[in-house]
Parts: sequence; structure tokens; C-alpha cells
Amino acid sequence: MKKFASLLLTALLLLTGCAKEAPVEPSLTRVGFSQLGAESDWRVANTDSMIRAFSEENGYELLYDNARQKQANQLVAVRNFIVQGVDIIVIAPLEETGWEAVLQEAKNAQIPVIIVDREVAVEDTELYLTQIGSDFLTEGLQAVGWLENALENRQEDVNILHIQGTYGATAQIQRTKAIEDAVRLHDNWHFAAQLAGDFTESKSYEMVRDFLAENQDIDVIYSENDNMTFGAMRALDEAGITYGQGGDVTIISFDAARRALKLCMEGKINLCVECNPLHGPRVDELIRQYLAGETIPKQIFVEETVFTPEILTPELIAARQY
Ligand code: AHR
Repeated sequence: MKKFASLLLTALLLLTGCAKEAPVEPSLTRVGFSQLGAESDWRVANTDSMIRAFSEENGYELLYDNARQKQANQLVAVRNFIVQGVDIIVIAPLEETGWEAVLQEAKNAQIPVIIVDREVAVEDTELYLTQIGSDFLTEGLQAVGWLENALENRQEDVNILHIQGTYGATAQIQRTKAIEDAVRLHDNWHFAAQLAGDFTESKSYEMVRDFLAENQDIDVIYSENDNMTFGAMRALDEAGITYGQGGDVTIISFDAARRALKLCMEGKINLCVECNPLHGPRVDELIRQYLAGETIPKQIFVEETVFTPEILTPELIAARQY
């Protein structure tokens, strides 16, 4: 009753012009972000970039979920976002398949979805607004091209230890495609083994350690991310095998996060292929364009480069954000 009386009084004051309208809070855009996990330095930098971009000062209310490397957790998170009626859903998908049903649910609820980092394999691409991330195949081709040059038409056998990321993730599928195609093309290139490193340092260390206990005849490590490279380097150190510039094993690593770049500058990693995780401001920009009614491309690749010891300096590394 008291509340009703106070509302009535406020209405009367407003009508008679005796009270000023309360300043209207600009409404926040509610974003639900499903992150696949925290498996690598890259992922930590990516999460940080996204959380910073979706701050209140930037006009967002962020609902964040870490799926801890399980797609089932991502599906639950996205369904929760739908129930909570967020304005936009952003998904960094663990693997490419298995998204149709939940994306259809988001579409039915008229909530646009942005796919970030990796891709989703759905027949109906109208199920999401856009996808932004790395061109993982180009990354792989850059690595392969560099290796062809580094080997200078070497005729002897080249034994490649291939450490693969999470099976079914775009980063794994495309980087794997690049090296598998190259091995098919060069008669003297062979896989010593293809190991499942799951993009983590610990898994890669175990796999490489066990592999080296049986076979040490390797010339190249093609590691699909920096953290798996660190695990492999530990196993090589323990086995007393040298690597990097002037070593027995050439190391190619993907991501080019700061820790790897330092090792590359020291000559311990021969090639770092950049995979840029700073998607927060990019997704923020896409959301603003969408809200302004602008047309957005269906797929956006970010620009990336490669690093070798010769071009790296402490200043260059210090200036990088991850
Ligand atoms: O999808 C990007 C890849 O995923 C990065 O190479 C890797 O570090 C991360 O785990």
C-alpha cells in the first residue's frame, strides 16, 4: 500500500512537472560467452581479451562459462544463456561437430550467435551470424613452406614427430591437413608418429616421453600449439636430445605466445607460427555493427605472421600483448 502511495505521488509530481525524471541508465547488452576451457597460454590470453571487451564500461553485461574441455558443458551453458534471454551468444567451440540442435534453439529464441576462434560444421550456416578466427590451414601451409625451405631439398629421409591438438577442433583439422598433404607430396618425408597431445603441455610431455623411450629417430617436431611444444621439449631434455638451431631436432610450434617467442629468440624453437587470440575487441566491434543493422561477413580471418630467431628481439616480444 505504501509502495502504491509513493508511486501515485511520483506520478502526480511528474504530471505536474514538480519532479524531474530519473536519468535513464543506458541499457547493457547481455552477452553469454561459452569458452571451451583453459588448456593453453593461448586460451588464457583469449579469455582475458574477451572478458576485458565485455565489461560494463564497454556497455555489456557478461555471462561467462568455462566448459573445461567438454562440449557437453558448452551445450548446457548455451541453453542456460537462451533461458536467461541474453541479447547475443558467443561460442568458442571445442570441436566442429554437434552444434546443430543448440544453434537451432538459439535461432528459435531469436538470439544471434557469433562463433569465435574455431569453426562449427553445420549445414545451415544461417544458424549463426558470423565466425571470426584464424585461418588454420594457412598457418599450417606457412609452417610447411618454411620447412621445405629449411630442408633445402634434402634427399635423405625426414622423420617428423607430429603432435596433434584436440581431435575435431578446427585448429587440429587444418594444421594436420597441411602437414599430411606435405608428407604425401614429399617421398622422403615420413611421420615417425602422430601423437594426441590435446593442446596441453602435460599430455604432450607424456606422449613424447613414452614415444622417445621406443624411438629417437626424429628430425622434426611439428607441434600444433606452444604448450604441447613445451611438453615435448621437456621430454627431449630428459632424453638428452638436442633441438632448435644447431640441434638434432627442428621444432615448429603454433601460437607464438610470449613464452614460446622467448624460446624461439634463444634458438630453441626454429619456427613460431602466429595464432592470434585477441578476439575480444573484434567480437565487440561485430556486435556493435550487428546492433547498428550493418551487414557482417559470414567468415572473418585475422591476419597472422611467422617468427624465426633471426627476426625476434626482446623489444618486439615485450611489445606483444600475449
Ligand atoms: O583454437 C586455437 C588453438 O587452441 C590454439 O592454437 C591453441 O593453443 C588452443 O588451445
